[in-house]
This record gives sequence, structure tokens and C-alpha cells, in this order.
Amino acid sequence: MCGIVGYIGQRDAYDIVIKGLQRLEYRGYDSAGIAMYDGMNLNICKTKGKVSDLEKKAKNSNTVFGKVGIGHTRWATHGEPNDQNSHPHFSNSGRLAIIHNGIIENYDAIKILLQNRGFRFHSDTDTEVLVNLIEDVLNNEDVKLGKAVQIALNQVVGAYAIAVFDKEKPNEIVVARLGSPLAIGVGEDEFFIASDASPFIEYTNSAIYLEEGEMGVIRLGRKPRIRKIQDDKLVDPYIQELQLSIDQIEKGGYEHFMLKEIYEQPTAIRDTFRGRMLVDEGLIRMAGIDDNIQKFLNVNRIIIAACGTSWHAGLVAEYIFEDIARIPVEVEYASEFRYRNPVINSNDLLIVISQSGETADTMAAIKLAKENNAFVFGVCNVVGSSISRETNGGAYTHAGPEIGVASTKAFTTQITVLSLIALKLGRAKGTIDNSHFHMYLNEMATIPGKIERVLKENNHIEQVAKSIKDAKNCLYLGRGYNFPVALEGALKLKEISYIHAEGYPAAEMKHGPIALIDEEMPVVVIATRKGHYQKVVSNIQEIKSRKGRIIAIVSEGDTTVKELAEHVIEVPETIEALTPLLTTIPLQLLSYHIAVMLGKNVDQPRNLAKSVTVE
Ligand code: AGP
Repeated sequence: MCGIVGYIGQRDAYDIVIKGLQRLEYRGYDSAGIAMYDGMNLNICKTKGKVSDLEKKAKNSNTVFGKVGIGHTRWATHGEPNDQNSHPHFSNSGRLAIIHNGIIENYDAIKILLQNRGFRFHSDTDTEVLVNLIEDVLNNEDVKLGKAVQIALNQVVGAYAIAVFDKEKPNEIVVARLGSPLAIGVGEDEFFIASDASPFIEYTNSAIYLEEGEMGVIRLGRKPRIRKIQDDKLVDPYIQELQLSIDQIEKGGYEHFMLKEIYEQPTAIRDTFRGRMLVDEGLIRMAGIDDNIQKFLNVNRIIIAACGTSWHAGLVAEYIFEDIARIPVEVEYASEFRYRNPVINSNDLLIVISQSGETADTMAAIKLAKENNAFVFGVCNVVGSSISRETNGGAYTHAGPEIGVASTKAFTTQITVLSLIALKLGRAKGTIDNSHFHMYLNEMATIPGKIERVLKENNHIEQVAKSIKDAKNCLYLGRGYNFPVALEGALKLKEISYIHAEGYPAAEMKHGPIALIDEEMPVVVIATRKGHYQKVVSNIQEIKSRKGRIIAIVSEGDTTVKELAEHVIEVPETIEALTPLLTTIPLQLLSYHIAVMLGKNVDQPRNLAKSVTVE
């Protein structure tokens, strides 16, 4: 997620904005920039890299000073991380400057319209389109900046938290939010703007949080004027007194980044299918696939290479691609694939999955596949990462930065992207008919809401965690689409609580693991109604007859398994191919609470790195 910061008041804005950007570094970013009005000129300094790089550049330029300024840390979604794509962005005339956190979905259509009106663009970003749309309104209508911003925002589709400055009206800054947070710090004859309160909490704890679809004109000497963007209704701003620490603010009030990221999954999945899954039109639009559609339709085989949680997402994708698009799939640990002299040829498609986009073994898999003329497609969460640059094509998960070492929202957004690809190919190949295709799209659209329902089970899951936190070993079982989820659940537990855990296909019990079962062994079984339910119930009965302790993930309203299990955690019904998006949530929370109860470092577990960039 990008970070935005602004200041208008009696003090030197530069130090406040720069320090504010440093406060937002935890959000993850790839470039930074600042715009300052010195009383005469509006100057921008921006750079790929860190805030410290920005400070060096600003010192050398010696142009960024004044009492009003806006700053930005960019987490790239459109356009590579580089200087010209960094924010702030000028409008064509140099009159306006904008910073933006979010995604404008219809920016390409607006860009064409503005180009036909003579606008020129210097970056690949959706944000530069927005600031020139605002300028276009100012050029053609007799309105002030606030009204121009409102008119422009009513023409865009997407998510935004923006701050806009007009050098012809230097005593005000206009802000707006839809889908991305924005806070206004209220000081003594000064105002602060930021993505959260961490940049200004040391100056004031009085804050106004814009609500969804609201905008504000912040002008010195009066309260901010807040109104609804759509219906222009004035809103009486509620100034709250914050009692949060910096650390609490960075984590959004959650105790750990991992918990924050677990709770971000509904938003992360919406952001991932936003602009790609057009339910009403019955379309899936993905440039990385559309541009190479023949390649995808003619492959003989898909090889998926990844590591860790991303490898588990690949296993889910194997079930989805074969079930829906009828394309043979093989899933490989990248670390094994790179050394086992595999048979690869130009009819193969390699899909690599990586949250960080920097995993060394996955990079090596790409190199090997390209040496054998296979087409390589990447599913990454970091725009401009090494893997995203090495692949022939790709699709980003828009999960936003994942700070916790244990991967959570990356996993569910990877499955979301891979499901969209499989559905798109299945539709193109005719292996899924129109009605099923629409049924999947409609069901996918309900998943974020269904995850929100699972998250409401958190207190119950915490109680379940308490009952098994002292176990020395744990078994996770699942069948079909939920077998990879069992593996993922086991990985989550072992990597943050250090309890040994193994995932198995439930049917594998008889081939060895059942020897482990006794009253000391908690067994987490995924037993949703879709997917061999009766078989799983039999497996549960086998465990129970050997005094195993059963914690079951079941479909809402299940009474059968409830009779057999020590604890059940309910998830809403969905189509089988999408159950992993729901059944993984309780397992994330279960491992989180156990690790917290055991006093482990949840966000930075021992021996682990967020990105394994070496072998
Ligand atoms: C999962 O919780 C771990 N953090 C780890 O297994 C991770 O998934 C693996 O290292 C792959 O990382 P990547 O997705 O960034 O390539």
C-alpha cells in the first residue's frame, strides 16, 4: 500500500513530511517523493528507492522548502518502480500536484480522452491521469479546486486516498478517500494529512478520519469542510482524540502485522479481482493472459514452481486448472526442479508463484525453463520485483505489502489470481460452460464477505487454540482441494509456534500416520460438505476410535462431525474449488493464537526471513 503525508501550517513542512514518510515505511514501498510550495513555486523531488534516497536528492536540489507540502511512498500497482512513476505527479501545466494511494481502474479510457484534448503524459501511472483530469475540469469549468476534484472523482472507478495541491490556491489542500484510508490531523492553526495517524501523532492527537466516499477542503483558519463526493452533502466532521501509540497505529490497532494481514484478506481479495472479474459482463480481463492467449491455449502442460506457502497455492491451482481448464499440471518445489534435470520444452508453460518476487530457487526455475524455451508466467505480489521482470508475462496479486513472515493474504490472493486464470482459460477452451462460468464469478464475488463471517469466529478459535497450545505434534488432514490447505495449516503452525505439524491427504491415514494417533495428538481435519465429505467423516471416526483429539473445520450447520469432534469451527458453504479461500482462515488464526499464547515472535519467527533470496 502506498503512504501519503501532507502538511499545511506555520512550520517548515519539509521536516514534518519527510519524518512522516519515515513513519509510513512499515507499509512497504519502492519509491518516495515530495512536493513543496515555497510561496512562489511548486517544486517536486522524487526518486525510486527509500526515503533516505529522497532526502539526499532533495538536499542536492535545494528546491523543496516552504510551509505547505505533500509526500508519498509508492507501492507500485501500475507502472514500474522508477523516478518518473513516483509520486507526487504534476498536472500538465505544473499548476497541480497530486499524491494517491489506490487504483484507478478506468484510467486507460480517461487517458485517451485527455490525450485527444492535448494532454501529454510522462509516466505510466493511473495517478498522473487523475491529476490531469482534475486540471481538465479546472480548464473547462468555472469552479474551485475542491469542486474540480469532486467532478473528476465522479468520473473515475477504483479506489483512492488522494491529496491535491493547487499553487494558485496555496492556502488549501484537497483530500478524498474511497477504499483507501485517509486521516486529517488537526493542530493549532495547522493541519496534517496521512494514510494513518503515525506521521502526525507526535504533533497532535486530534484527528478526523474521512469516511468512505468523502472529500475535504483543508484551509488554514477554519475547520476542514467535509462533504460526500457523490451527492455533495456536507458532513459535520467528527474530531476524535487518539490514544494510540505509534506501534499500534502501524499495525492498524492489531497486536501483530500477521493478525492485521489475516483481517486484510477480504480487502486484498477484492483488490485482486477488482477490474479483472467483470461479473455483470461475464468477463475476466487479464492483460497478461489476453496478450498471450494462444500460448496459453496451446500448451501441453503447465508446470508450477514455487516454495513454501506459494507452493501450496500451486497445489490448489493444480486441482483448479485440471478440474476447470482440463490442462495437465505438475507442481514442483522450485528448489528440486532447478536441479533434477527435468524434461522441459517449448510446449510447456511454467507458472511461478512468489509473494516477494525475489526467492532465489524460484528465480532459478525461471532461468532453467527459459533455457528450454518454455513460456514463463509469474504470479507476484511486488511490482517490479526480480521475478516479475524475468518472466514473459504475469499477473500481480494486489494484496499490498505482507510484513509478517508467515504468509497469509498472499496465499489467498494467489489462489484468487490462479482461479481467475483457470476460469478464463476454461471459458476460452470451452471446458466450462457459460452457466458454470457465471456461477463461479458470482460465487467468487461473495468470498470476501464469507471470509468476514469466518473472521467473526476469532474468539472461538482463540479458545480452541488454548486447548491444544501445549501439544508437541499436530496432524492436519484434508482431501481434494483441501489437501493443500492441510499442508498450509501445518506450515503456519510450525513456522510461528515451533510445534511440529504435518499435513496429509486424509485418505493417507491408513498408510502410516494413523500410528501416530493417541490422546496426545490433536488432529485438525478439514471436513467441509463439498468434496468427499463422507470419506472424511470415516477418517474422523478412525481417529476418534484411537482417542485422537479432533478439531474439525466444517460447513455451517454441520451436526454430524460436531458429534465426533472435540471442537468444530464453521465456515460458510461455497463451491468446492473456492473452499481453500475459506478453510485456510481458521487455520491461520489457530496458529496465530497458539504462537501468541506460547510467547513466540509472531511477525519475525526464529530462523526465518520474509524472502529467501539465497539458496
Ligand atoms: C510462508 O509462510 C513462508 N513465509 C515461506 O514458506 C514463503 O511462502 C516462501 O519462502 C516463498 O516465498 P515467496 O512467496 O516470496 O517466493
